[in-house]
Amino acid sequence: MATPRSFFFSICGFLLLFCVSSGSGTSSNRRANQDRCGYRVQSAAEGVRKLAVTFRADNCSLSYPLGKHVIHEVSNVSFSHLACDDQAAVVVHWSASPLGIEHIKGFRVYLEDKNPDGKQCQHLILKDPRQLNYSYRSTKMSSQPFSSLTFDTDYMVRVVPFPSLMNESFFPPSFLRTNSCEVLLGAHSLVCKPCKCLCVLFISNTIC
Ligand SMILES: *[C@@H]1O[C@H](CO)[C@@H](O)[C@H](O)[C@H]1NC(C)=O
Ligand SMILES: *[C@@H]1O[C@H](CO)[C@@H](O)[C@H](O)[C@H]1NC(C)=O
Ligand SMILES: *[C@@H]1O[C@H](CO)[C@@H](O)[C@H](O)[C@H]1NC(C)=O
Ligand SMILES: *[C@@H]1O[C@H](CO)[C@@H](O)[C@H](O)[C@H]1NC(C)=O
Repeated sequence: MATPRSFFFSICGFLLLFCVSSGSGTSSNRRANQDRCGYRVQSAAEGVRKLAVTFRADNCSLSYPLGKHVIHEVSNVSFSHLACDDQAAVVVHWSASPLGIEHIKGFRVYLEDKNPDGKQCQHLILKDPRQLNYSYRSTKMSSQPFSSLTFDTDYMVRVVPFPSLMNESFFPPSFLRTNSCEVLLGAHSLVCKPCKCLCVLFISNTIC
């Protein structure tokens, strides 16, 4: 039979677990989180009919595909900040350069922080249309969400068109800083307040 004492101990254990899991916003379960984000790309319903581009996402286990043509670097790289599973996430936007645009089969998007094994990659293959032309030079393209990011942290992003004559290191990186926990989840989110959590823990410990 469970004594009240052991009941309190299990409460303490539960609280401890909760605090640990909400306190750290780091890098486990990267891939698994990608789908649980609920981000939807805004449709371009602004009167003017805009050309849209959709991708099929694959993983980056294949080596980077080199080609015979020069494809220039992308322009107008920007970011949307969102929250997925109580962690920071980012969607990358860009436009293809008109120079070499007809040779593009897709894009690789890399996101990394200072930690060398914290690199994430998306391999995006053109789905509709299969081939771009000059009319798509200012179409805004979007990655899928990069999730499981740390709040208030600097990241480097590289958008690489393929198959290009140049390897990845030719393409210049862009930089972003993720939003704070308070901005993304609201000032009252418990996730943003490890301090309050410790306080609950302290109270529960004194009960135990
Ligand atoms: C991703 O790469 C892994 C390891 O190379 C492979 O086993 C897996 O099938 C790939 N997943 C997809 C969705 O292509
Ligand atoms: C580019 O392709 C679209 C259809 O995919 C077509 O409507 C448009 O006229 C083409 N533009 C040029 C400049 O060829
Ligand atoms: C970049 O964005 C600006 C403002 O939205 C736009 O005027 C410009 O044409 C864009 N440049 C390219 C190359 O798409
Ligand atoms: C990319 O090419 C440069 C020379 O053009 C070379 O020094 C570098 O090692 C290459 N990087 C990769 C990842 O292949």
